[in-house]
Amino acid sequence: MEFPRYVGSMRGRHFLNTNDFTRDEIEEVLRVARDLREKYRSRVPTPYLSGKTLFMLFYNRSLRTRNSFEAGMFQLAGHAHFLSPQDVYTPTLPEDMIPYQTESIADVARVLSRYGDGIAIRIYGDAAKWHIGRGHRVIQEFAKWSSVPVLNMEDDLYHPFQALADIMAISDVAPNPSGKKFVVSYAYSGGLKPLAVPQSCVLIGTMFGMDVVLAHPKGFELEEGVMRACRENVARYGGSFTVVNDLRTAFEGADFVYPKAWSPRAFFPPYNNRVDKEGAVEYQNRFKDWICNQDLMDLTNRAKYMHCGPADRGQEVTDDVIDNMSYSLYFEQAENRLHVQKAVMSMVMG
Ligand code: CP
Repeated sequence: MEFPRYVGSMRGRHFLNTNDFTRDEIEEVLRVARDLREKYRSRVPTPYLSGKTLFMLFYNRSLRTRNSFEAGMFQLAGHAHFLSPQDVYTPTLPEDMIPYQTESIADVARVLSRYGDGIAIRIYGDAAKWHIGRGHRVIQEFAKWSSVPVLNMEDDLYHPFQALADIMAISDVAPNPSGKKFVVSYAYSGGLKPLAVPQSCVLIGTMFGMDVVLAHPKGFELEEGVMRACRENVARYGGSFTVVNDLRTAFEGADFVYPKAWSPRAFFPPYNNRVDKEGAVEYQNRFKDWICNQDLMDLTNRAKYMHCGPADRGQEVTDDVIDNMSYSLYFEQAENRLHVQKAVMSMVMG
């Protein structure tokens, strides 16, 4: 069987953050994802990773990510191998080693590189000790030592495959997203969630020339490096990037809205000298009125509703909004995870 030219076209590259790639490269990933989607729906075989193995190391739980990677590798005729950090010697940064309980990431990455063809990792929150940026550092450490591609399945700064799925959903609706108003807003949750999704959302939106509006209460600022990268994207790709502290102002005239919880960073290192989860929950409990409901949707330009999942119904969003299939992209986003991941894996592991 002759394989498409895109198989192996980015061979060996790590996929840690969408902003490590150019817009042309991301657009090529989307073209490949659409080709694979068409083949999947038509039941055309795609054995592009026959005999290849992806190791999946989950420090955190997952529905969409685990199952879409595992199903995706199967559909590409490869094998996805699930690894729980508790069942191996936990791969750990040098400063946290415990004899015979942990193993250095440098060693784990080099061992797994000899058995397979890719290493995918998810790590944030408790697993990254709530020290903002530490989860990403773990994945960078894997990338430093691995001789096969490392894939970021969500850390505490970035969720690049979610961003790919999201921009695929947006560009299915608006083939040229430039100039469309894309609102990435805080929404209340009783749980503590990482910065990864909102940060990857604003990065991909600005890369595609959208008018990106980031809305959050004071205290929910994103990382300065991400804000700077968004402004650089605007300078390079057009569009705009603004920040507001009011949900209603943000939603007015929006084409796409993405209301999603994340945690107030001031309660965590390096912004605080200790991890203060109780303080963070107490603070975010002040913002229970940041919920996406039909009143807010009525302010928009018939916007599409977006959320990466899992959505906290009754907190981040009302049921009538998320379940309104005339404008909710919730399940399209979830499905797209399968297609974009198969695209990237075919390109970097093929
Ligand atoms: N969106 C997302 O990553 O979902 P899971 O946490 O279920 O993997």
